[in-house]
Amino acid sequence: MGNKPVVVGISGASGSMMASATIDCMLSNGIPVAATASSAARMVWKDEMDESFGESLERWDDSGIFSYYAVGDLAAPISSGTFVTRGMVVVPCSMGTVAAIDQGLADNLIRRVADVCIKEKRRLVLVPRETPLNAIHLENLASLARLGVTVLPPHPAFYLNPSSINDVVEFVVQRILLALELIDELPGKLTYSGHSS
Ligand SMILES: Cc1cc2nc3c(=O)[nH]c(=O)nc-3n(C[C@H](O)[C@H](O)[C@H](O)COP(=O)(O)O)c2cc1C
Repeated sequence: MGNKPVVVGISGASGSMMASATIDCMLSNGIPVAATASSAARMVWKDEMDESFGESLERWDDSGIFSYYAVGDLAAPISSGTFVTRGMVVVPCSMGTVAAIDQGLADNLIRRVADVCIKEKRRLVLVPRETPLNAIHLENLASLARLGVTVLPPHPAFYLNPSSINDVVEFVVQRILLALELIDELPGKLTYSGHSS
């Protein structure tokens, strides 16, 4: 599995920095990443990040273990179940993407890879971001959890006394890596650029 990528899907919920930190952390620890982002994700990115999405892609590309596919590219290799991956995280995961995955709507690359992970029984981690959650959101998330999908809300670990948003993001990234079985304990010995405290 060592050279197989983890798929990182970035959807249009708030929390672009979680996606950035997740990819940074994986790449800096030699874990190959195949990423895709929805058009809404790129809009949110523009609002929330100092670095443009294009600049981030260039930086990740320098790792030599990063690939990026357009969200409309349903012919991308990761779209097929025969292309083996270490699983997928959708971070952040919008309620629209949660609903689509729950309904088996494989009409973009994020949703298709998630569907493949479920059918191939690969690890699938969703980091849903919305508040408050309505009954539709909760029912969709519960239905996915029953299928074995890990629902990992980006909640702060209040008991660790986080002193900055970077602390919260670092904790979420560590939980993602644990859920994908890329590390076997918390706190992991992984680091990512962007952590400032
Ligand atoms: C700045 C901004 C922030 C948003 N934040 C959220 C959010 O936190 N959660 C959510 O479910 N949708 C959020 N949305 C709405 C989604 O982007 C929208 O539902 C979109 O259709 C999701 O598409 P996607 O799941 O294909 O990325 C936000 C939109 C914008 C423009």
